Amino acid sequence: MSLILDLRSPEALRPGIARAAAILRQGGLVAFPTETVYGLAAHALNAEAVRRIYQAKGRPATNPVIVHVAERDQVRELVTDWPASAERLAKQFWPGPLTLVLPRQSTIPDLVTAGGPLVAVRIPAHPVALALLRETNLPLAGPSANRSNRLSPTTAEHVRRDLEGRIDLILDAGPTPGGLESTVLDLSGPPRLLRPGLLSVATLEAVIGPIACEVTLEPMQAMPSPGMLRQHYAPRTPLEVVAHGEAVELTPSTGLLTFPGDRMEEVPEGVIVRRMPEDPAEYAQRFYATLHELDDQGLTRLVVVMPPEGEEWRAVRDRLRRAAAR
Ligand code: TXA
Ligand code: MG
Repeated sequence: MSLILDLRSPEALRPGIARAAAILRQGGLVAFPTETVYGLAAHALNAEAVRRIYQAKGRPATNPVIVHVAERDQVRELVTDWPASAERLAKQFWPGPLTLVLPRQSTIPDLVTAGGPLVAVRIPAHPVALALLRETNLPLAGPSANRSNRLSPTTAEHVRRDLEGRIDLILDAGPTPGGLESTVLDLSGPPRLLRPGLLSVATLEAVIGPIACEVTLEPMQAMPSPGMLRQHYAPRTPLEVVAHGEAVELTPSTGLLTFPGDRMEEVPEGVIVRRMPEDPAEYAQRFYATLHELDDQGLTRLVVVMPPEGEEWRAVRDRLRRAAAR
């Protein structure tokens, strides 16, 4: 059994954080809220603890994990290079949903970087995540707290259903405000997008100039970031995406995510409709939660109307293409 602590009352916060920190210092696993999705934390410099993350998630050892810290000073102990672009982005967007990939220090266990020369780091903006990082005073490895290739969790209940009994503690702070993962940016050379996320490329480009975005969904010979794996972030129910305005035959036992103006107002009986918001941030916030909810209903298929093309929809469209890939 995994213990769940609800931290949503002022009295619960301090003892909850203290308990989580004790578990992490001893090499245990704690699921914690961030402003994006729930993460699964372990002491990042303890190889045995990090190995437990891979075990609990069923994650292939070829997929590196993000290291979370509370302060920018701590990043210097993790990386060997800190380019001006990193300084500018960190100043502007940390704490926040931006992960920077840089050359690693040799003190970081190989498992964290999947044996590669680069490490991914970020300072999360959620008060509980920051409290935990400060209390432990440790860098914390933290992939999303889901079984490998499954939907990311945006509530403690999502975490429990995926990882119950496989981890030591779940810190519940309610639904995560962002709902979608951080943007992952490789700064080891010319800036390169590895995974679109909550912070848009346009927002980042306004600070550091052009970013290469040739993210491809085709199988790659050398995989720079497994977040680029074709199938990833998928519900158990088969998911199809349809273009805005595209005709689709809706059969009973279908879950449908509509997009405003898609002419899917009338649907046959047995189709469960979730009307998604037109605002990209609101859409992101509800995205995984809606997929989780429909996925739990034992439906035959899920149909999602793709939001329009455009920079502000890049991350959602990316996740939908991956969720639909089989
Ligand atoms: O919002 C987020 O980023 C959440 C919260 C918990 O911080 N974390 C998260 O972690 O989404 P995860 O492991 O589910 O996804 C991390 C992504 C993966 O695509 C991984 O391949 C990539 O970052 N990544 C991690 N370390 C890397 C590295 N050293 N080089 C390249 N890509 C890396
Ligand atoms: Mg993940």
